[in-house]
Amino acid sequence: MTNAVSIKSGRLFFDGVDTTELAALYGTPLYVVSESIIKDRIARIKNEFLNKYPGTFAVYASKAFQTLEMCRLVASEGMGLDVVSAGEIFAALKAGADPSTLVFHGNAKTPDELRYAVQQGVGRIIADNLNEIAQLESLGAEFGKKIPVLYRITPGVDSHTHRFISTGSLDSKFGIPLNPEVRAAYMHAVLRSPHIDFRGFHFHVGSQLHDNFSHLAALDILLDLVRQVKAEFGFATREINLGGGFGIQYLPTDPDPGLSYFIEPMMKKIEEGFTSAGIPQPTVIIEPGRWIIGEAGLTLYTIGAKKEIPGIRTYLGVDGGMTDNIRPALYEARYHALIANKAERQGDTQVTVAGKCCESGDILIRDISLPDPQPGDILAVFSTGAYNHAMASNYNRIPRPAVVMVKNGSHHLSVRRETWEDLIAREL
Ligand SMILES: Cc1ncc(COP(=O)(O)O)c(C=O)c1O
Repeated sequence: MTNAVSIKSGRLFFDGVDTTELAALYGTPLYVVSESIIKDRIARIKNEFLNKYPGTFAVYASKAFQTLEMCRLVASEGMGLDVVSAGEIFAALKAGADPSTLVFHGNAKTPDELRYAVQQGVGRIIADNLNEIAQLESLGAEFGKKIPVLYRITPGVDSHTHRFISTGSLDSKFGIPLNPEVRAAYMHAVLRSPHIDFRGFHFHVGSQLHDNFSHLAALDILLDLVRQVKAEFGFATREINLGGGFGIQYLPTDPDPGLSYFIEPMMKKIEEGFTSAGIPQPTVIIEPGRWIIGEAGLTLYTIGAKKEIPGIRTYLGVDGGMTDNIRPALYEARYHALIANKAERQGDTQVTVAGKCCESGDILIRDISLPDPQPGDILAVFSTGAYNHAMASNYNRIPRPAVVMVKNGSHHLSVRRETWEDLIAREL
């Protein structure tokens, strides 16, 4: 799927590192993250977006995988960070990110979170409701600040993805609907506020999208809105944020549309839309998460028991599961895997890879062909960089795995494995 994956002497190498050696050194389950792939994705964002179009900015949707090292890496490349909680702001700042590069999202930000964001000088707040605007107004007055705000809109487009990661349809907990009365109330709220620096609009239509239909449809709606608020309120939009959602390959057969496929037609529409509305070209922001980190991660497991149910299926138990990868249970996500210590061999045994949690739904991969899998073999599951470590839990008191970063043949521990003591550390 990526050229950071190679096979030498029958073993799987990732970014030049022998994954069977990593499993032996650090134990399993283990998240392995390739710095070279992350940097390659960021270089593509620079080539295909930032350097190609003036007045653009890219923020990494850190919810996909937020570690201090990842924040530092992204910030050192000149990108900002999309954050969705005070905890994510705290970690981003601890990592040394410039607060002015943070974009704060959320449909239910708490008063404490808004206060913290304003205090810390977070660069942009993406407002999701009028209650938030009232709070920002008084925080602005209290701290003597003019707070940069965009509205997240609900464009009312259905994206072709699992409904749990589709966010742009009208019936959504995210964003502001666009009917005229609502629009007027929201515009009045920000335009009359002396403490809000209202800049424009944001949408995020969904995640893991392989066609650009929803992005383009949402953009058409946003551009209509830009014209409407110019006509009705004399407001010239200065900034638009197109969200993330750019799809990646989980299975070798998945399409790989690339970034330009989404960006190019959107930038063309923006240029034409603003020119025809007689408004100067806006700052354009994107927020890729999965696209940067998804294929940069793989997870190593040790295979345990093999259970054959004659005429039905063979289950292969591994030492992790829904605690380190909730996505199959949460939205039927599918993954590709191979046996790291038999990497050159073709699959010959049809199995279903089961996690170790006490849930029948804890199935990591349904029906995959692997080469004579045996207890002790190391299973490598690909494209687990996004929304795996970030969504990990301690269900069944299972410690969360370590994260190891790899780069051109070298490796280091980035996040240590949780211990049993960690599991009870908060209990009084
Ligand atoms: C507002 C917003 N921006 C960006 C993203 C990142 O999406 P993706 O990881 O699919 O690029 C999300 C994901 O939930 C989001 O909610």
